[in-house]
Amino acid sequence: MCGIVGILGTTPVATDLVDALKRLEYRGYDSAGIATVENGHLERRRAEGKLRNLAERIVREPLKGRAGIGHTRWATHGAPNERNAHPHMTDRVSVVHNGIIENFREIKQDLLRAGIVFESDTDTEVVTQLITHEMRQGADPVEATKRALGRIRGAFALAIIFSGHDDLMIGAREGSPLAVGHGDGEMFLGSDAIALAPFTSQITYLEEGDWAVLTRNSVVIRDRAGRIVARPTITSTASGFLVDKGNHKHFMLKEIHEQPEVISHTLSHYLDMAAEQVNFPDIGIDLAKISRVTISACGTAYYAGLVAKYWLERFARIPVEIDVASELRYREAPLPKDGLAVFVSQSGETADTLATLRYCKANGQHIASVVNVRTSTIARESHAILPTLAGPEIGVASTKAFTCQLATLACLALAIARARGEIDAAKEAELIRALMEVPRHISAILRDERRYEELAHWLSKSRDVLYLGRGVSYPLALEGALKLKEISYIHAEGYAAGEMKHGPIALIDENVPVIAVAPHDDLFEKTVSNLQEVAARGGQIVLVSNADPDLVGCAIATHIRMPDVPAFVAPLVYAVPMQLIAYHTATFLGTDVDQPRNLAKSVTVE
Ligand code: AGP
Repeated sequence: MCGIVGILGTTPVATDLVDALKRLEYRGYDSAGIATVENGHLERRRAEGKLRNLAERIVREPLKGRAGIGHTRWATHGAPNERNAHPHMTDRVSVVHNGIIENFREIKQDLLRAGIVFESDTDTEVVTQLITHEMRQGADPVEATKRALGRIRGAFALAIIFSGHDDLMIGAREGSPLAVGHGDGEMFLGSDAIALAPFTSQITYLEEGDWAVLTRNSVVIRDRAGRIVARPTITSTASGFLVDKGNHKHFMLKEIHEQPEVISHTLSHYLDMAAEQVNFPDIGIDLAKISRVTISACGTAYYAGLVAKYWLERFARIPVEIDVASELRYREAPLPKDGLAVFVSQSGETADTLATLRYCKANGQHIASVVNVRTSTIARESHAILPTLAGPEIGVASTKAFTCQLATLACLALAIARARGEIDAAKEAELIRALMEVPRHISAILRDERRYEELAHWLSKSRDVLYLGRGVSYPLALEGALKLKEISYIHAEGYAAGEMKHGPIALIDENVPVIAVAPHDDLFEKTVSNLQEVAARGGQIVLVSNADPDLVGCAIATHIRMPDVPAFVAPLVYAVPMQLIAYHTATFLGTDVDQPRNLAKSVTVE
């Protein structure tokens, strides 16, 4: 959620810290701050709101230190204001933190009893005060940090600097990602390799419980038990260039338009297009012998998993269990022998998904992860990585990552179906041809964006919007509703069309638009019956379908005509109008599309 960075540099580091924070802003953007060691003492600048506020402040009030840390915040404890912004600081130590210190109340009580005065409402400040307290008892910075780490519980990545120590920085990782970057006479800490890419490609990922003592020319990493450990240094491929929006007004729109290309890349990774066969990598388990597939993820990634459940059951005839990670992790669900557990995550860092992965691993499941960041924690802890080749996704609302997750999961479903003998070569070729046509269909939809602007004008006046879908279109209805609420702040809900009459129909009146995701498939007639029930109560129907609206037999307010596509690939194609409806409604309302309020791109807390 929050992004952290630390630099032991050879020249003043403030500008580089802000540049690195720009690359981490997707993790949180309600306040930001940096601190450096300047002439032996600690100096900091913080600002509420977007990073540009901090950048402007630093221009007015520069920092000159060559050792520094920085933070971009997504508030967990304490309001998003300057007082609670990181770094937290005393005269001895300055700390930036990503995660949650679960036992902060108990530690704070002890420190308050010892007469220590707190200046913020955050959990993080206990780390700062604890280290300071230990130093006042005579411990040196390393020993004081070691004692503090032994006391705190929860999820954290920390970067710490000390007054009087211009060549020292300590990093610690427990549950939140942290990487060490090796420079030439310089050393770095960062939440991910993307933040450090302009400075170095030589990266060491800390493992759970690790803490590292850095100087400009050395790194000593210790594990939880205090033993010195060697962790591999890899060459990161993260790009040093700041990703930009090109000609687009927002990253989200750019990413929507990138879909034909990135879906093609992803499909070509898993398919032999010439032979019209799945060319699936060996994931370390015999696909023919899997007894059950368990899928887990959060948010949009969960909806991709839900689509995969329909595909796996229909084409591979294999039982699938699916749940959101925040539920599955605590359900103590029994897991079968020879089970495959599939985790879906753009960032590869989502805390609930990671915890569920660990539960499934501990319970004997073979773990395959569909991730967009190959160096992420989820990727590194999986038996097999199924990469999506979407490229960096900057907009908080997931778009191209979702369709690339669908493309990857479609190929997994076909690979399992073939291994289990549920589809023959002719069927496999037919389904692959359908997948290969997806980028072309999406390009056609993207050429005709004007109609979404008109629809957005109308939707932007609504208080509530309902999305309906049946079968494999049901997860698309859920995704459409999530997309709309997350960036336009209009209340939206997705329902299985058949569930309408069991409650939600009570909401229908002439002011509630009902968006029907209804490809002309074998369930179309059933959805039509539900739409007639909506129309009978004055509901305003937006039909997203390749079917002729006359077939619905009731008034349709708007028809988004979709291309004719085989039912198998409809979720990939119908995802795009869901994105465009949300995007244009949000831009019409003037919301911050790429960084919507209260959200963050990478959710590394529970
Ligand atoms: C989607 O638009 C979201 N912002 C959110 O639901 C996201 O998909 C979810 O937090 C999971 O993230 P992940 O894919 O990085 O694990």
